[in-house]
Amino acid sequence: MSPQTQTVPLVDPFQRAISYLRVSVTDRCDFRCTYCMSEHMTFLPKKELLTLEELDRLCTSFIGMGVEKLRITGGEPLVRKGIMTFFEAMARHLQSGALKELTLTTNGSQLGRFAEDLAALGIRRVNVSLDTLDPQKFAAITRWGRLPQVLGGIEAAKAAGLRVKINAVALKGFNEEELFSLTEWCAREGHDLTWIEVMPMGEMGEEMRLDQYWPLKDLRARLAERYTLTDLAERTGGPARYVRLEETGQKIGFITPLTHNFCESCNRVRVTCTGELFMCLGQEDMADLRAPLRASADDTALEATIRAAIARKPKGHDFDYSRQKVAGQVNRHMSHTGG
Ligand code: GTP
Ligand code: 5AD
Ligand code: SF4
Repeated sequence: MSPQTQTVPLVDPFQRAISYLRVSVTDRCDFRCTYCMSEHMTFLPKKELLTLEELDRLCTSFIGMGVEKLRITGGEPLVRKGIMTFFEAMARHLQSGALKELTLTTNGSQLGRFAEDLAALGIRRVNVSLDTLDPQKFAAITRWGRLPQVLGGIEAAKAAGLRVKINAVALKGFNEEELFSLTEWCAREGHDLTWIEVMPMGEMGEEMRLDQYWPLKDLRARLAERYTLTDLAERTGGPARYVRLEETGQKIGFITPLTHNFCESCNRVRVTCTGELFMCLGQEDMADLRAPLRASADDTALEATIRAAIARKPKGHDFDYSRQKVAGQVNRHMSHTGG
C-alpha cells in the first residue's frame, strides 16, 4: 500500500464516504435459490478467480483507504476452498483496529463446520438467508437446500456465541403466511430478522418477479396489526431500517430498494470473485481490479483504479415495479455480486 494514498479516504461524487466493502469469494453455491440463480449455472474456472492472496491484497488496500466494515459473500462464501485461511488473514485488521467489523452473509449450510472457528477469529455476527421454516417450501425455493442442515448451522452459530440475523426475501404467496411464525421463531431463538424486497436481478421471467413482489409497506402494516412498532434510529452500516416490536423486544429490519430508495446514504461497493468492482448493485458499470492486481506486486496501480472507479459511483439503482412493469433490471444474477 502506498503511504500517501493510504491517508486519503474514499469519497464519491455525491460526498458519500465508502466505508463498507462486500467481497464475493466464489460464484459457487450448494443451493440454487430461484430468485438468485438459474438451475443450471455454469461456474467460472479456477484461474479466473482471485486467489486468497489477491483477495487479501485487495481487501487490505480498501482498508487502507478507509473501509471499516468487510462482509464476505458469494455464492456461498463457506464453500470456497481455504476460506478460513482468508478469514484468519483478515482478522489481523480487526486486531489492529483498522476494521470495525468482519462478517459474512451465508446460506447457513456450512455453519455447523465453521461457526466456532469464525467466532474464535473475532467475528461477532452472521447474516443467514432463510425465507421459510417449512421444509417443503425451503426445498422448493432453494432447489438443492435442505432445511434441517441450515437450522443445524444456525444452532451452531448461536452456540458459538455469534449473533444471527435472518434475511428473508419477502415473496407474495410464498412466505406471506409465515410472517408471524418466522417473527415468533426469531423472538424465541433470539435472532434479529430482516425482510428484503425482491430485486430484478438475473434473467428471471418478468411476470414471476412482479407476481412475487410483496412491498414491505404492506408487510409492515400486517405486522402492526399484531405488534406495536417503534422506529429505531440505530444503523448497522447496511441499508436496513429497523423497528422494535414492543411486545417481544425484538428488532425487525426492512430493506426496501423498491418502496424506499436508500441510495442517498449508500456507503458501500462490492467486488466479485474475479475482481470486478461494482460501484452499485443495480448498475452495470464496473472496474476490473484483477488486471492491476496481476500486473504488479506493488499496489499503486490497484489503488489508482479503485479511486478512479469510486469517482464515477452512480447516484443509485433504477429498479422500479410501478406501472405493473419491471424497470431497471440488471442482467447479472444476484450470486454474481453477492447481494
Ligand atoms: P447488516 O450489516 O446486517 O446491516 O447487513 P447488510 O444488510 O448490509 O448485508 P446483507 O448481506 O444481509 O444484505 C442483505 C441484502 O440487502 C443484500 O443481499 C441485498 O439484497 C440488499 N442490499 C445490500 N446492499 C444493497 C445496496 O447497496 N443496494 C441494494 N439495492 N440492495 C442492497
Ligand atoms: N432480490 C432480493 N434479495 C435477493 N437475494 C438474492 N437474490 C435476491 C433478489 N433477487 C438475497 C438472499 C440473501 C442475500 C445475499 O441476497 O436471500 O439474503
Ligand atoms: Fe446460494 Fe444465497 Fe444465491 Fe441461494 S441466495 S443460491 S443460498 S447464493
